[in-house]
Amino acid sequence: MRHIRIFDTTLRDGEQSPGVALSLQQKLEIAHGLARLNVDIIEAGFPVNGASEFECVSRIAAEVKGPVICALARTHKLDIERAAAALEKAEKKRIHVFTSASKVHLQYMLRKTPEEILEISDAMVRYARQFTDDVEFSAQDVMRADFDFVMKLYETAINAGATTINIPDTTGYGTPQEYGALIKRIYDEVVRGRDVHISAHCHDDLGMATANSLAAVENGATQIECTINGIGERAGNTALEEVVMALYVRRDHYKAHTQINTRELYRMSRMVERYTGMVVQPNKAIVGDNAFAHESGIHQDGVIKNKETYEIMNAELVGRQAAVLVLGKHSGRAAVKKALADLGYKLDDTQIGAIFARFREIVERKGPIETEELRALVESESVSTPH
Ligand code: KIV
Ligand code: ZN
Repeated sequence: MRHIRIFDTTLRDGEQSPGVALSLQQKLEIAHGLARLNVDIIEAGFPVNGASEFECVSRIAAEVKGPVICALARTHKLDIERAAAALEKAEKKRIHVFTSASKVHLQYMLRKTPEEILEISDAMVRYARQFTDDVEFSAQDVMRADFDFVMKLYETAINAGATTINIPDTTGYGTPQEYGALIKRIYDEVVRGRDVHISAHCHDDLGMATANSLAAVENGATQIECTINGIGERAGNTALEEVVMALYVRRDHYKAHTQINTRELYRMSRMVERYTGMVVQPNKAIVGDNAFAHESGIHQDGVIKNKETYEIMNAELVGRQAAVLVLGKHSGRAAVKKALADLGYKLDDTQIGAIFARFREIVERKGPIETEELRALVESESVSTPH
């Protein structure tokens, strides 16, 4: 089983979500939570981006133990110096140097030729290596770049001392097949057995970030960059909880594992939701309100008989309460009968039939009810013998 490193960038790329601004205390709490989750690397921020960003990275570096603490830097000396200074107190530190690869980025943003990008990247990775042995190199917008240039760029970075090469699909443009094939090409042509990690960094503009990251793992990547709840620029980044649970539940397929303490996933999701104000959609995989809820009669009947009929993982495994049977208009008699038994009522079939009829009238009118409302209904029908 290959070990897949989880590189969490909630505090850097995730915080770039429109409208999100975390305080120092909130960032520290999230970073401690990520350490409890046992992520391999925490990208704490972009220190050159102002005094408060610098302060956040240095406090996390000084106080959070366990994961490698990483700081972002453009291919500029000052960025690298600020990153190194902010990381000074970290037990384990990484500088993440990034440039761009696509023609549109080179022409309009960086105003540099491909040759200049190669030269600058070489010099800046070497410069970053003067501060730490752990240097990651990224080129933005790889999926829209000329792949021959991409190969040269990553070859240059590795020769200059990069120990992780990160392959960002910055605009979420690639398909799983294309992204996987590019990772394989980099693995075969550039890494060539050298002790260098390939990292997947995917954005979710077309809803393919998780699939692309997993395709990367199948083709040689050993690191995934992701955020809690998938927050990030525009449609966001790869969701940490999704890739971690996909690798766990389908370990037979991926033949890989992470070191994540999955029981902390739900708690982290709620913390990030609270602090960022970015509400998790109810049907979000793993952490959404409905992710372990069953409402339809057929599903409820199946789950009551054997959970495995409709569940591929236990809710407890991700730190949630056991799966819930929603008492709503799609519920069948089996779920109502079970809820009544759980409440301590011993009822015969006629009594259950009467309660079920009343229940259907109510949920048709006002939507799902809580079990306590079911209790009130039983009491009002006075057909019960609680024990
Ligand atoms: O999406 C991206 O290209 C990035 C880089 C800075 C790695 O976030
Ligand atoms: Zn990104």
